[in-house]
Amino acid sequence: MERVTLRKLIKKKEQGQKITMISTYDYLTAKLCQEAGIDSVLVGDSLGMVFQGLDTTLSVTLEEMIYHAKAVRRGAPDLFLIVDMPFMSYQVSVEEALRNCGRVMKETGAQAVKLEGGEEIAETVSRLVSAGIPVVGHIGFTPQSIHRFGGPRVVGKTEEEAERLRKDFRILQEAGAFMIVLESVPWRIAKELTESSDVITIGIGAGRYCDGQVLVFHDLVGLYGDKKPKFVRRYAEGAKLFIDALRRFKIDVERGDFPSEEESYGP
Ligand code: KIV
Repeated sequence: MERVTLRKLIKKKEQGQKITMISTYDYLTAKLCQEAGIDSVLVGDSLGMVFQGLDTTLSVTLEEMIYHAKAVRRGAPDLFLIVDMPFMSYQVSVEEALRNCGRVMKETGAQAVKLEGGEEIAETVSRLVSAGIPVVGHIGFTPQSIHRFGGPRVVGKTEEEAERLRKDFRILQEAGAFMIVLESVPWRIAKELTESSDVITIGIGAGRYCDGQVLVFHDLVGLYGDKKPKFVRRYAEGAKLFIDALRRFKIDVERGDFPSEEESYGP
């Protein structure tokens, strides 16, 4: 497989081909994504919840993102690798953002970094792009601002919020972001933004008209969450499958059926 590059992703948008992206955090699942022919892997800071069992993404550190991104890169050497910049690794100053994003690029093999926010991060985005770092924006519901939103919710239902989204999208585009994740946004607005611009849009809870779609691996295979968000489609019931396997292992061990002679070394 040839490595997926930024140029290839842009070409896909130009040719009207949809882009697939999976958010994941480890070698093995990244390898599965590459074997399945997915275009891009995102090392999302959702790892705070999905991998670490926390309530929010807020306490994820830069060191943790780098650790996970290195593992994902080893599993998916040819996919377009994007790494989330964690909370407070890019908001304090442009200089700190440059230093931290630079570390991610140098140490992980990432091809782009993702930052949440709109107008407030425009200068940072522009400086990163000038330094040669491709930037992915993320607007709509932004999990690092969960306490401002008061919890996960759809953003852009009121005319005021829709206008804000349009403005942030335009500003991020002008600052040089080549791709923007739209999270929990009404499909009509996502469609309008996608069709009005060369920037690649990736939706999660933003309807079918985006240039591509991202889901968290563990959501997609039914491993995470007792309640399924409206925008998730489960392609497997992973939790059920694994719990069943573990139960059968327990029964076999307790009955003395495992290991068998074939599964044991000779005398
Ligand atoms: O952290 C993450 O996994 C994300 C995606 C869901 C877009 O930001």
